Amino acid sequence: MKYTYPPSEYMQQLLEYNALEKLVFTPTDSKAHIIATLEQRSAKKRVIADIANTIIREYVETFEKEPDILRAEDVEALESFADILIPDGGRPGKLVTDFGIYYRISKLLTDYYRKQEDWDRYAFALNRCTLGFDLLINAHAFKNQASPYFDDSLALSRQLDSDKLHGRARSKVLLTLTRVAYGGVSQFSAAKLREVNSVLLSHMEQPPTEYEEKILLSFHVSLLDYFSDYCIYARDCGLAIDLPSIRPFLMGICGGLRERLEQDRLLGMDSGQLRLNLLTCDFFLGNLTLEAMLDGLSTMQEEVWHQPSPLAQAFGLAGINSIFLTVLYKFSPLPKDEICRICRKRIQEVIPKMIAVSQMANNVYFNRFIVMFLHAASLTGSFDEFAEIILETTVYADKPLFVHTAMVREMSLAIFDYMVAATPEAFDGVAGKNMTYILQHSVKMRQLLSDCCMYHDVGKFFMLDIVGNSMRHLTEDEFRLIKEHPGHFEHIFQTVGEQDERVKCIHDCALTHHLWHDGTAGYPLIPQTKNRPFADILAIADSIDASTDFLGRPYNSGKTIDQLITEFQAQSGTKYGPEAVAALSAPSVRDRLQYLINDGRREIYYQIYAFNRLPELEKGF
Ligand SMILES: [Fe+2]
Ligand SMILES: [Fe+2]
Repeated sequence: MKYTYPPSEYMQQLLEYNALEKLVFTPTDSKAHIIATLEQRSAKKRVIADIANTIIREYVETFEKEPDILRAEDVEALESFADILIPDGGRPGKLVTDFGIYYRISKLLTDYYRKQEDWDRYAFALNRCTLGFDLLINAHAFKNQASPYFDDSLALSRQLDSDKLHGRARSKVLLTLTRVAYGGVSQFSAAKLREVNSVLLSHMEQPPTEYEEKILLSFHVSLLDYFSDYCIYARDCGLAIDLPSIRPFLMGICGGLRERLEQDRLLGMDSGQLRLNLLTCDFFLGNLTLEAMLDGLSTMQEEVWHQPSPLAQAFGLAGINSIFLTVLYKFSPLPKDEICRICRKRIQEVIPKMIAVSQMANNVYFNRFIVMFLHAASLTGSFDEFAEIILETTVYADKPLFVHTAMVREMSLAIFDYMVAATPEAFDGVAGKNMTYILQHSVKMRQLLSDCCMYHDVGKFFMLDIVGNSMRHLTEDEFRLIKEHPGHFEHIFQTVGEQDERVKCIHDCALTHHLWHDGTAGYPLIPQTKNRPFADILAIADSIDASTDFLGRPYNSGKTIDQLITEFQAQSGTKYGPEAVAALSAPSVRDRLQYLINDGRREIYYQIYAFNRLPELEKGF
């Protein structure tokens, strides 16, 4: 196979792309300068995207279609590609990388070596596969999923008794086994965890090498983490935990870890993380009261405030508080109001720190911590409080998403203003209101639509930067994950205290904005709601922004507003709502949209990039 670019070129493109995403301006930068820089960025992104797509086509898609044409030199090329994305044995850490491609390459190599019966190399490739699965699927799905590689890993570990595996490949098998075990702890149960533990112990040399020791240590630290996760999960699902069975096993592990902590034999492991895991595990094992556990967390938080690095502070605060808020919310017998009061106070203390750090770093590695914290924050307080926190954070941590929601909002309001005067009956039933109410309270309804727009893609924030800000075509796995973004709102909706008509309307729009008007296609495929008229408007605005954004995205359709309107008309009544489509032809709406996708977009980008705030377009022009 002839390749246009070497694998190192891809990492170079990723780094350049990431640097472009993080463009930062100040209020003193002129609008002309900001817009010109954004235009140059968009052009440069297109060049980068073309290179990335060529690389992916040649290195990945060719062999996915025809695995049999893989030759030894191609295998070498794929190995070095995977190694560049995440160096062997290294952790992804703060690297800008591409989990989706890493996972795809790892799958190709795993299949190849299995067929070749090259067990040493198969052990390495399978290890990469499990890492890719964890980083891409598990990290984005926010649920304890069973690893699809558990059986393969266990089968491979049985080969350890034969002489088919050699050198570091043997340790890799153990490492893989630990990863697949805790990747799905809720499904695998205590018995499976014990099985993995005994396989690990039985295959270590006596005395164990430092590498083996590290594997065992990280497995045990993670076990505590996953045990706590499982206890929370079990509580949510009403499952009983077989404490008498798992308690002696985990107590033994905790004892060993405490000894290591005291003797400072952590082999590079973060002692703060270990102490946090021990504390939480003690609570779930029944060794600590809730009060003592929360006190322990507060003491740890005090220590974290004194960390010299702001990034370390933010990571620590996110980790500690997400446990604090979750445990308090789910396990405290205190009245709900009191719980919310305590949580609110903590959120207010920590959120400025999280925002400050999101200005410094914007990548998958960091966002994961913000997301952890936001997940916990969503459990507490009211929807409005949570919503304010998420918008405040998004404007720093995910500017492209914030710009998109602002654009969708402006376009949706233009459509609403026309419809509420021309076809108010179209809104009958929205937020449980009848037409008379809607006509009398059109300002309130307008504000509600505005909120629906601002929060429609909140679920995307929880998906992290799935593909390095999507500079290349999505892989099948990624597309499947992206399709889950409307559903992520569900999590917030179920936990916020109030579920009034207003919040329900915001919820319905978030959940159904990718569902067709006639309900026959799109995602998720669920029954329509009475708030469909708002979702219809939003779906059109969403689609216009995606296909015309020349300042943020590497690609757009390049279509004019009139071409787009013709397309909407062709799908009126099927994909799009007929009343909303009809509104597009009204001169006032068409002209406003025409303005918004050109100069209006420039203004929105300018305001958000220069001032980190939602533009007030109505006042400005
Ligand atoms: Fe969406
Ligand atoms: Fe959207």
